[in-house]
Order: sequence, then structure tokens, then C-alpha cells
Amino acid sequence: MDTKIAIMREESIDIEAIKEAGKVISKGGLVAFPTETVYGLGANALDEEAVKKIFEAKGRPQDNPLIVHVNDFSIEDLVEEIPAVAKSAMEKFWPGPLTVILKKSDKVPLATSAGLDTVGIRMPANAIARSLIKEAGVPIAAPSANISGKPSPTEVSRCIEDLQGKIDYIIGGDHSEVGLESTILDCTVIPPCILRPGGITLGMLKSIDENIYMDPGIMKKPEGDFKPKAPGMKYRHYAPKAPVKIIEGDLQKTIAKINEMMQNYIDDNKRVGIMATEETKSQYKAGEIISLGSRSNLSEVAQNVFEILRTLDDSNVDIILCEGFEEREIGIAIMNRLRKSAGFDIVKV
Ligand code: TXA
Ligand code: MG
Repeated sequence: MDTKIAIMREESIDIEAIKEAGKVISKGGLVAFPTETVYGLGANALDEEAVKKIFEAKGRPQDNPLIVHVNDFSIEDLVEEIPAVAKSAMEKFWPGPLTVILKKSDKVPLATSAGLDTVGIRMPANAIARSLIKEAGVPIAAPSANISGKPSPTEVSRCIEDLQGKIDYIIGGDHSEVGLESTILDCTVIPPCILRPGGITLGMLKSIDENIYMDPGIMKKPEGDFKPKAPGMKYRHYAPKAPVKIIEGDLQKTIAKINEMMQNYIDDNKRVGIMATEETKSQYKAGEIISLGSRSNLSEVAQNVFEILRTLDDSNVDIILCEGFEEREIGIAIMNRLRKSAGFDIVKV
């Protein structure tokens, strides 16, 4: 399949290209596009056949539901009801990196919700995404635009790498602003529960309802009956080819431990990638060292994490050692993605 590619800036949208891509969606095709979280792979959310193509192109497990992207607040026909707390969350955080889970209406095909009677809906903030939804004239179902299992794309080059030849259209914009996927808030339960941490943090959501809490399955290795409630969170995810180990604890001990582990790998003729920070990068003696950004700016770290996992993959290291981060605010989402990318291989110091 020929994949058409159009690159633009959010400030200067190529409306002709967007109209063309919108038509592709309304006719049942697939379009990758930028959002403020990560790039998405979109299809008409109300067209069962179109939605099935997403699963094929990504190699996505069939039981993993898709998030529906909308351009306005009138979502009444997609859902059975909008509880007051969901309405407040939407009013406060839309457009933005928040997905609300609601009981779905019959209009949303089971292919989109992967057989569930609920649907995740979000209004992205990115102007290119908004304009695409508007031109398509239909809500757009979109998972992250990567091959299933790989780190989500935050740059268009990664969508091209993963999906060129498999989909109809790729729209490129800037590096994703948040860099991690949206926060998922299940509003079908009382109190609402966070199924995936993201840019809208627990603290921010508590300003709406102080009883909102995080699914305890989120930060743990899915084992036995204790599985996260968002089906997608149970799969190996965000994983580069090389195994990842997260070293968590006191920062000076972390650095010492990483240097020690690195030396052992080097003695074994292994190439080691190190995910460091501005504050620590000069303290590593060898290895492929990449800084995620400053520890005093966790938003910057969030923005870079997926792209750096992919960069280290490209450099063909044998093992990736990564520093842990403080679990506060967006640090919770960062640690959630890092631990999953490591398959919960964590070294505590
Ligand atoms: O930021 C985002 O949300 C990005 C961009 C493209 O908008 N999309 C995204 O989609 O991350 P995806 O498919 O990679 O992740 C969707 C997650 C999965 O873990 C899925 O299981 C969960 O959302 N999910 C979707 N619908 C759900 C539902 N009805 N109930 C529970 N979990 C749901
Ligand atoms: Mg994904």
C-alpha cells in the first residue's frame, strides 16, 4: 500500500492535506496523526470494518479496546449517560490528555470497545488532531501509532518506521508535547478510578472529587488475579529489543549501582545503554549515555522517555539501565511506563 505523508506545524496547518486525510477516514481508511500525548493511528470509530484494520496494522491483541477521539463536548450519542463527575472532569481537562471511560451506546461498535460495554473518550488538545476529526466528520478511534509492544511514537519518523506501507496516510507535526499517553479515568464506578496514569495527575483529578484513586494494579507486575483494569495495561509494552532494568532508590546509590552493573556487562562484552539525567550523566564512566532531561523538570523527562527508548534500540545496545524517578505528579506515569518497558525488572538500592 502507498502511504501518503504530509508534514506540517500545529501553527500552520496544511488544511488541504487534512481535508484529504479526513476523507480517507470517512471512507474507512487509516491515518496516523499527532496528538499532544503520542501519535495516534486513526479510523472511523463508528465503522467496524475500518476499526478492524487498526488491529491488523498494529498487530494489536483483539481484547484491547480503542480510545475514541472527539472534537466537541456533545458526546451524548456515543454513551448511555454522563455522570456529574465525568462532566466536571471533561469541562476542566478537555481538550487535553484525559480519557474518560463511560457506558457506551449501541452506536459504538463492539470492535471499537473490544467487546466491552464501555468506551474511552477523549478530546485531544493538538490543533492538527482537532482539525482532522472535524474534517473527517466522525469520531476517530485511535490507539498509539506504533507496532504493538513497542514504545509509543512521539515523533512522526517513528510512525513512518512502524507503519509506512501498512496505512493510507501519515500526518506529521511536532514532537508530542506530553510524551506519555493520556490519563484514563474510569467513570463507570464510584468513586472514579484511574486505570492509567498520565499528564492529568491524581492530584489534579482530586480537585474534582477527592475520592478519585489509582487502580492498585497499575504499578505492579500483572500476576494471578491482580490485573490492571484497562485491558491494554496487562501486555508487555513500551519494550525495546534490549532488556531494560530500572534501578530505583537513593540517587547516589543508584549511580553507584549502575556503574557497578555496567562494568559487569562490559566485562561480558555487552554494550550498555544508560538512561541518565542532566544531574547524573557526567557520573557514568562508560556506556551509551543518554539524558532524559532534568530531574527538576519531570515534564521534560516524560516528553523524552519513549523517544530515548527507541534511540537506544537503534544503537543496538544489549542492555539498558535506567534511573528511577520520584513517584509524584507526572513521575507516577513515567515510572509506570518505565517499569512496564522493563517487564518489572527492578533493582532496588
Ligand atoms: O493518549 C492517548 O490516549 C493515545 C493517543 C493516540 O490519544 N492513545 C492511546 O491508545 O494511548 P492505546 O490504544 O495505545 O491505549 C489505550 C488504553 C489501553 O490500555 C486500553 O486497554 C485502554 O486504553 N482502554 C480503552 N478503552 C477502554 C475501556 N473501555 N475500558 C478500560 N480500558 C480501556
Ligand atoms: Mg499504545
